[in-house]
Amino acid sequence: MGSGIAETVIESGFQATLLSRTSETAHAMGEAIKSSFERKTAKERKTVIRAEEELSRLNVTNQITDLADCDLVIETVVEDLEVKLRVIKNLDAVCKADAIIATNTSTFPIIDLAMATQRPDKVCGIHFFNPAQVMKLIEIVKTLVVSEETIQTATSFALSCNKEPVIVKDQAGFIVNALLFPYLNNAVKLLEQGVAAKEDIDTAMKGGCGFPMGPFALLDLVGLDTALSILNSLYDEFKDPNFAPAMLLKRMVTAGMLGRKNGFGFYSY
Ligand code: 3HC
Repeated sequence: MGSGIAETVIESGFQATLLSRTSETAHAMGEAIKSSFERKTAKERKTVIRAEEELSRLNVTNQITDLADCDLVIETVVEDLEVKLRVIKNLDAVCKADAIIATNTSTFPIIDLAMATQRPDKVCGIHFFNPAQVMKLIEIVKTLVVSEETIQTATSFALSCNKEPVIVKDQAGFIVNALLFPYLNNAVKLLEQGVAAKEDIDTAMKGGCGFPMGPFALLDLVGLDTALSILNSLYDEFKDPNFAPAMLLKRMVTAGMLGRKNGFGFYSY
């Protein structure tokens, strides 16, 4: 998600700094963007000169201090509240006082992250969708304490990235995940019940509802660990049994089957 967002940001004319944990992972993320640009130039979606100009506005690093001068920082670390809190606190210490710190969390309460900083009025959700380079929607998530100026800047940023922003209040799952994940979870339950094969469930939802991907292909794209974390957060917030993660999903994550990201999920890659 991080490299997808950085790709979108440099294509939209901004300067971007892409921070990753190690120099190796930072390098790999930069290479992923270069490969994507090579595919786009091969398909004549952009010229080589344009790709070079856009890449010249990208800095990849593993040094958090390189974010000190950024106006807007978007964290996209793993969907684990403790990790996110640690990262947000470190960003708060390093980033300039008037910078906006946004989170791309799928479901965690933004207020928990905002209150861990010295600038809760400058913290909001900027939630992209997978694959971030392609999907048009951005959910801008508004806490009880965020300033209007922060929300306006986040909205202008989304529009400048040629995305469609919607404003949503700080409630688990926001709009899309609150509606999407019960559906994905119920698809796993149907599979557990032996109602149909996964391929047939995917075919049914594509052909019967016009969805671009079936639920199992989509779960693999999102990542099974991320999906499990989203369902757990929804269940924590609402205590609605419909959000309780399907047993099979939990077992697959424990077994290290995470989807496309490691090559094994409902399908093999
Ligand atoms: N990463 C980057 N780019 C990708 C990609 C990926 N994983 N998959 C496809 N693309 C690009 C292709 O390169 C292509 O670009 P081009 O038009 O410049 O050539 C474009 O997307 C279309 O790809 P394809 O023609 O190969 O395939 P499709 O037309 O089937 O589109 C799709 C692929 C965009 C992934 C489409 O299947 C789709 O929209 N799927 C549903 C995705 C979805 O629901 N996402 C939301 C998930 S929920 C979420 O993210 C929330 C979070 O909190 C978990």
